[in-house]
Amino acid sequence: MGLEISGVSVRFGGLHALDDVSIDARGGMITGLIGPNGAGKTTLFNVITGVQRAASGRVLLDDTRIDRVPAHRRARLGLGRTFQRLELFGSLSVRENIRVATGALPRSRREATVNQLLDRVGLGDVADERADALSTGVGRMLELARCLAAEPSVLLLDEPASGQDDQDTARFAALLTSLAADGMAVLLVEHDMELVMGVCERVHVLEFGRLIASGTAEEIKNDERVRVAYLGEEVPA
Ligand SMILES: Nc1ncnc2c1ncn2[C@@H]1O[C@H](COP(=O)(O)OP(=O)(O)OP(=O)(O)O)[C@@H](O)[C@H]1O
Ligand SMILES: [Mg+2]
Repeated sequence: MGLEISGVSVRFGGLHALDDVSIDARGGMITGLIGPNGAGKTTLFNVITGVQRAASGRVLLDDTRIDRVPAHRRARLGLGRTFQRLELFGSLSVRENIRVATGALPRSRREATVNQLLDRVGLGDVADERADALSTGVGRMLELARCLAAEPSVLLLDEPASGQDDQDTARFAALLTSLAADGMAVLLVEHDMELVMGVCERVHVLEFGRLIASGTAEEIKNDERVRVAYLGEEVPA
């Protein structure tokens, strides 16, 4: 179960944004996807979710091929995603933001789900505050709660820790670990190497659209090509 991507290529004019990329993210674990700016991480998320067409390759969600399925149906098949830039309804309360996201659930279950999610992500205390009054770090928790409202089996997170302070990040890491323990496949794109190396069982590394390494966090930390790719940026600790 989980996500399996094989042989995905995307070109923008002469640029190979993704070149024959194959990675997976299994249910029950957190998988990292790292690489320098412009490596193709967000483009790969766009291919997985169906907002970017690939020139070649396959995407399997829970063993079913989804790369020809329209984007809106992929969400219903269990694919959840957060964005690099926060996309919240600023004038709605925290509770209302989550409520809107439960629209696909049976009406009778929605309110209980909202309360469970507020509790699970630790936003009960700010449930009635407007979303635009939240710090970015807390806003990211709300974005995750909105995503969880659709009950995804695979969760794609694009730089969820940017804007979080250390305390937010620690809470976020604990939450991701508990989601994986429930069986979810979590694919985490993140520049915060401490977070990636702390929570990911496996890590894939992209550079200029190519997969240059896949392995355990420990293997990736010690991989020579990875260290070279990150020269001038943050080298994995
Ligand atoms: N719609 C597009 N049209 C043309 N080029 C694009 C488009 N989207 C992305 N690119 C280019 O494709 C490459 C990969 O971009 P992408 O956003 O996937 O990188 P990324 O790994 O997510 O980077 P970052 O860490 O900065 O978010 C970059 O060179 C980018 O400029
Ligand atoms: Mg990106």
